[in-house]
Parts: sequence; C-alpha cells; structure tokens
Amino acid sequence: MTQQNKKIIVAIDGYSSSGKSTMAKKLAADLGYRYIDSGAMYRAVTLFAMENGMIAPDGTVDEDALSEAVNSIHIDFALTSEGQHTLLNGKDVEHLIRSLEVSNHVSPVAAIHSVRKALTDRQQRFGVEKGIVMDGRDIGTTVFPHAEMKVFVTASPEKRAHRRYLELQQNGTPSSYEDVLANVIERDHIDETRKESPLRKADDAVVLDNSDMSLPQQEEWLMNLFNKTEAKVNGRDC
Ligand code: CDP
Repeated sequence: MTQQNKKIIVAIDGYSSSGKSTMAKKLAADLGYRYIDSGAMYRAVTLFAMENGMIAPDGTVDEDALSEAVNSIHIDFALTSEGQHTLLNGKDVEHLIRSLEVSNHVSPVAAIHSVRKALTDRQQRFGVEKGIVMDGRDIGTTVFPHAEMKVFVTASPEKRAHRRYLELQQNGTPSSYEDVLANVIERDHIDETRKESPLRKADDAVVLDNSDMSLPQQEEWLMNLFNKTEAKVNGRDC
C-alpha cells in the first residue's frame, strides 16, 4: 500500500463463534491496521461484574451497581508473546474472559444501556484515525455506521459450537459440546432480540457464510473484498 492511500474502517459483525475474531485479527496484521475485539470489552465488563458480586447466582445482573461502576472500569489491549491480550484494570484477563462462565453471562450484560453506551464511546474513539479492523455485533450498524467495509459473518450453529468447543479444549478450559451449543444458541437469541443495537446485518454489509470454508479460503475472500473496497475509496476502481 502506498503512503497516500486513505486508510479505512473495517467492521466485521456476526454470530457468536463464527470466526470473526480470527479473520479480523489476520486481516489487521496483514494490513498493519489496529485490531479491536469489541466482544472482549463486553467480556471484560462481565468479568468485572462477576468478580464484584454484581451477578446473582440465578444470573440476574445488578444493573444499578454496574451502571455506576462502568465508566471507571479500565479496559485496554496489550501485545504479548501470545498475541493481543485484554487488560481489565491493568490485569491480563485474556484467558478468564474466554471461559464458558463469562460466555454464559455476557449477553445479558451487553444488553444493558449504560454498558453499551460506555463501550460504544470507547470503540468510536479507537476508530478516530481509521486504519482499524473491529469485530463484534453492532460495529457496522451502531459503532461505525459509515465504515467503508462491512462484513456480516455467519455459519450453522453446530459448526460454530464445534469450533468453540475445540477452542475451549485448546485453552485448557474444556466444556461439553452440548453446553457450548446451548450457549451459542442462547447468545444468538439474546443478541438478536435485545432492544438496543441488536445483532443484525447492516444494509450495506456483505454476507460471508463460512460454514464450509477453510481458514485460507476465508482469508483470501476477505482480502479480495478489502482490496476492492480500498481501491474504490482511493478512486482506483474501474
Ligand atoms: O467470540 P464470540 O462470538 O463468542 O463473542 P464475542 O465477540 O466475544 O462477544 C461476546 C458477547 O458480547 C456477544 O455474545 C454479545 O452479547 C456481546 N457483544 C455485543 O453485544 N456487541 C459487540 N459489539 C460485541 C459483543
């Protein structure tokens, strides 16, 4: 890429465990763009709520207490030898936030207005200078409605649950396939039906169903779309 090329914002949204993060991370690394995992931010807030007694055993979230605390929660990303890790108030919580326990509480937390507002503001600040790839549920619809490139990723619930099941095994936090599938289906439902910024495809997003795609095929598909989009933005399309 030459110096005078305008950098763009890439928004990758989609269903849980659809492989958004893997493809977003790889694209950002290939382009020299910044990668932001917005889901990790919701997961970090959820872990904070769990650690501070704001989630009752029946899963009810103490919305008032969390709303009061959310603006003072510090979330950052740091590059480690294992890749980009999420920091919660300075502590590396990358592994903790990926546990099934956090997954089981994150969607109700992410449906709370004050949480969405606080995190949306921070996500928008990350994008001020463009040159960013962000993945999540509402990046193309709410966080960056004017993003130059928008992708909506989907795959069958069974495929997605299988991928997440393998990932949890590799991370040393194994769970049964049935539990993972139930979590995927439950989160899809909460994310799609919540009042604020529900998960839906932006009108101008391109759909990617990667059910039967290998990682290299997916990467190639994404890079082709990026090249086309970036050429258009920089007036090179013919
Ligand atoms: O990686 P996975 O698909 O499991 O989910 P994630 O991207 O880590 O996001 C975890 C949860 O955070 C989602 O199920 C949503 O409830 C919420 N989320 C959201 O509401 N908005 C976003 N922009 C990103 C995540």
